[in-house]
Amino acid sequence: MSYLAHLRVWHGDADGGKLRDHVVEAEEGEVVLDLVHRLQATECPDLAVRWNCKAGKCGSCSAEVNGKPKLMCMTRMSTFATDEIVTVTPLRTFPVIKDLVCDVSFNYVKAREVPAFEPPPGLAPGEYRMQQVDVQRSQEFRKCIECFLCQDVCHVIRDHEDNQEVFSGPRFLMRQAELDMHPLDARGTDRAGEARTEHGLGMCNITRCCTDVCPEHIQITDNALIPLKERAADRYYDPLLRLFRK
Ligand code: SF4
Ligand code: F3S
Ligand code: FES
Repeated sequence: MSYLAHLRVWHGDADGGKLRDHVVEAEEGEVVLDLVHRLQATECPDLAVRWNCKAGKCGSCSAEVNGKPKLMCMTRMSTFATDEIVTVTPLRTFPVIKDLVCDVSFNYVKAREVPAFEPPPGLAPGEYRMQQVDVQRSQEFRKCIECFLCQDVCHVIRDHEDNQEVFSGPRFLMRQAELDMHPLDARGTDRAGEARTEHGLGMCNITRCCTDVCPEHIQITDNALIPLKERAADRYYDPLLRLFRK
């Protein structure tokens, strides 16, 4: 059954913009991204939108739908009433380039600040051995599609732009956690401690909003951030290490 959907879309650029209302034909089974594409194909050929896979796997089509961070390609129109206005705006935390496209380079800067995994010396790829439980822990975190919805929703940077300098955000704290818990990482530094001193781990107050929006259902807070906090605290308050530091 097709019907006429009511879309309210933000149009603009870094200098400002506004919400504009559109009536767009919708077919059964369609997602928000289908309607944005139809809008491009008809009324607004210059509407900017970033997408790639249309299968929830590339992480490109992140936006805010009715104020909630979502992948547009995974948000079915059937989740809204047919007469409801569906508002589509760009991610709020990052600077707008045009319409629904943001500059997410903050995330790549933060990614580069996390030192890479260092394989154990003397072992060639294929010779690494680790327990299945350790493999599974990494695999959960490796499901990340880098959509940056968790980065967008976290109030530490969403509501306080000044914190962007010192807070890496849930996605990259999760990367630190993965490497800190990795049995074969041979870098030999205290990654949990670095998360505390260099990536703003202490600013996370476990609101769990990041976990709530993750399209891969990664338990970012419970499986990465809380264990990372515990590990950082254990090492910082270890009486012997404290004595040594003094
Ligand atoms: Fe997206 Fe989840 Fe990865 Fe965050 S952790 S970037 S929400 S897939
Ligand atoms: Fe932010 Fe997630 Fe912590 S939303 S405050 S990083 S639990
Ligand atoms: Fe790839 Fe939506 S287009 S995740």
